[in-house]
Amino acid sequence: MNQQDSLKQLVGQTAAKLVKNGMIVGLGTGSTVRFLVDALGKRVQEEGLAITGVTTSNRTTAQATSLGIKIVDLTIDGADEVDRDFYGIKGGGGALLWEKIVNDASTNNVWIVDQSKVVDWIGAFGVPVEVIPFGASKVFAKFEHQGYQPQWRTDEAGQLYRTDENNYIIDLKLGPLTDPLALAEDLINTVGVVEHGLFLNRVNQVIVGNEAGITTLTAP
Ligand code: A5P
Repeated sequence: MNQQDSLKQLVGQTAAKLVKNGMIVGLGTGSTVRFLVDALGKRVQEEGLAITGVTTSNRTTAQATSLGIKIVDLTIDGADEVDRDFYGIKGGGGALLWEKIVNDASTNNVWIVDQSKVVDWIGAFGVPVEVIPFGASKVFAKFEHQGYQPQWRTDEAGQLYRTDENNYIIDLKLGPLTDPLALAEDLINTVGVVEHGLFLNRVNQVIVGNEAGITTLTAP
C-alpha cells in the first residue's frame, strides 16, 4: 500500500472509532470512506457492533452489505406523480435531492399517494430540476433552447426558491413525457444540474388512497 493509501486507511480507521453501538451512520463514498467501511465491518464482526448505514452510492451499499452493516430497510415517502410502470416525479416540496439519496440508500421504497397522483404518463406536474446557483441562468437558457419550458421556482416572497442545499429549482413544464428515461439522462448530464425529480423504477410499492379505500400497487 502506498503512503497516501496508508493515510486514507488511518483516517478511516480513526473515524470508525466515532461510531457507537446502535447508531444510524451516514456513509459517504470514495477511496477513503472505503477504508472507513472496512474498519466498521471489522468492528461488526469482532465486537458485534450493530449499526445501520445510510449510504450515498451503490458502491458503498455493496461494500457495507458484504461486511454485515445493515442498510436502511424501508423508506416511506410521498410522490407528485406515478404511472403504472412505476415511473415517478418527486420534488414538489423541493426536497428531491435528499429524497433521492435516501431512496438510493434504502432496500425497500414505498410511496404513499392519493389517487390524484396516479397518472397514465408522468410529466404534467412538471419536472423539478435542482441546479447550483453559479451559472444557473446558463442552465435555464439551455433548457429554453431545448424546448423544456423551464420556470424558476419561487418562494412565498417571490424570491428564487432555495433548497436545503441552498440550490435553485427549475421546473420543466413539458407536459406528459414520451421518453422520461432520455430526459433523465440528458438532465443528469447537464453541467450545473445537481439532481432531477424523475424517480424511474425507484419504488417497490405504491399505496394509493382512493374513495374505495386502499389499493397497493407492486412494482411491475
Ligand atoms: C418533496 O420534495 C416531494 O417529493 C414530496 O414527497 C411530494 O411532493 C409529495 O408531497 P405531498 O405528499 O405533499 O403531495
